[in-house]
Amino acid sequence: MFKYNCLNPIAKVGLDKFNKNFVASETFENADCVLVRSAKMHDLELGDNLMAVARAGAGVNNIPLDKCAEKGIVVFNTPGANANGVKELVIAGMLYASRGIVDGINWVATQEGNENVGKDAEKQKKAYAGTEIEGKKLGVIGLGAIGVKVANAAVNLGMEVYGYDPYISVDAAWHLSRAIKHVINVEEIYANCDYITIHVPLLDATKKMINKEAIKLMKDSAILLNFARDELVDEEAVVSALKVGKLRKYVSDFANPTTVGQEGCIVTPHLGASTEESEDNCAVMAVRELVDYMENGNIINSVNFPKIDMGVCASAGRVLVLHENKANMITKFSSYFGDAGINISEMNNKSRGNNAVSMFDLDDPATDEIIEKIKAVPGVFKVRVVK
Ligand SMILES: NC(=O)c1ccc[n+]([C@@H]2O[C@H](COP(=O)([O-])OP(=O)(O)OC[C@H]3O[C@@H](n4cnc5c(N)ncnc54)[C@H](O)[C@@H]3O)[C@@H](O)[C@H]2O)c1
Repeated sequence: MFKYNCLNPIAKVGLDKFNKNFVASETFENADCVLVRSAKMHDLELGDNLMAVARAGAGVNNIPLDKCAEKGIVVFNTPGANANGVKELVIAGMLYASRGIVDGINWVATQEGNENVGKDAEKQKKAYAGTEIEGKKLGVIGLGAIGVKVANAAVNLGMEVYGYDPYISVDAAWHLSRAIKHVINVEEIYANCDYITIHVPLLDATKKMINKEAIKLMKDSAILLNFARDELVDEEAVVSALKVGKLRKYVSDFANPTTVGQEGCIVTPHLGASTEESEDNCAVMAVRELVDYMENGNIINSVNFPKIDMGVCASAGRVLVLHENKANMITKFSSYFGDAGINISEMNNKSRGNNAVSMFDLDDPATDEIIEKIKAVPGVFKVRVVK
C-alpha cells in the first residue's frame, strides 16, 4: 500500500484515479509520494521514504529539483495538460487585440442608469471598430503542446500560419496541420506576420528573445501575444514600440509594473491555464504518472530524471536504481545479480545530465543482500524493489 499526500487541493477527478493500492496520508512526512500545485517545497524536510513528487501543472520552480534528485526522488510535471486552456485564451487575445472589445465593454459598464444607452452606443461604437483575423498572417514561435494547438486553431479560423521551432519534437510535428508554413529563420515571421505569438520555455537562451532588434524587424502595427512568460520579451522595448505605433497591441498574460496601465497593453492575470478542464487534466495526468511510477517504476514526464518505460513487469522481480550518471555503474549492479545466480531477463539504462536510472527485470526476486550492495555503491541515490 502506498501513501500519498496532497500539499495543495487536487481535483477529485484526479484523485479518483488512485487505485486500491493507494491511501491518502494526512501528513507530508509519512507520504511515499506527493501531489503539489503551487506550495513551496524548498524548505521542507525530504524524508527517506519519499519516492516521488508530481506537480499538477507545468512550472516546477516551487520544487527543489536537485535536492530531490540527490535523494532519488523523481519529480514529475504534466506537460500539455493545460494546453487547450491556454490555446483558447490566445485565440481570445487575438480577437480582443483586433477589435475594441475590452474598451467597449468598459464603456458600457460606465453607462449604468443611462436611459439612452442604446442610442448612445450606436454613436460610440465607431471608437471600438477593428479588424478581423481571417486571412491575416499569424507567426507561432515555439511549436510544443500549446503552439501546435494555437497554430492549428488559427488555420481553422482562416488565418495563414507560419510556424518556427528549430527543436520541434516528432510528436508535435505529427500533430501540426500541413497548412502551416514551416519557417527556418524566425526573421521570416517578423517580416511577414500581422500577429506573432510566442510559446517557448523560459531558458537562458530564450530570455528576452523578443527584443528591440526583433521588434524593429516586425511589420508596422503588428500585434504581439505573450502567454508564455513575461521575461521572454523586452517589455520596455514593447512599450516604446506601442507609443510610436510600431506595434499595435501587446497582449500578455503576466501582470507586472512595466506593462500594467500602458497604452496598447492588454494584460490578463495569468489566466491561461485557469480553467476547470485544465486543472482536471493536470490532476489526472499527475496521478497517472505517480501510479505508474509507484507500481511499475516507469518514469514518464519527469523533470529531474530521464524517461524509462518497461511497461508492467512480467518477470519474477524488478529493481529500479536511481543513480549518478557515471562510468561502471551498470557493470557493478548487474554483477551483483550475476554473482547471486539471478538472471537479468531485461534491462534498460537512461541518463539525463548528472542523473541516470537503471531498471532490471529478473528471473528471481532480488535478495536483501543484493539490494544492500547496490545501495552501498557510491553515486547511488535510491534503490527501489518494484516487484
Ligand atoms: N499562461 C499560462 O497560464 C501558461 C500555461 C502553461 C504554459 N505556459 C508557458 O507556455 C510555455 C510553452 O508551453 P508548452 O506546454 O507548449 O511547452 P512545450 O515544452 O510543449 O513546448 C515548447 C516548445 O518551444 C520550443 N522551443 C524551445 N526553444 C525555442 C526557440 N529558441 N525558438 C523556438 N522554439 C523553441 C521547443 O522545441 C518546444 O517545442 C511554457 O514554457 C510556459 O512558460 C503558460
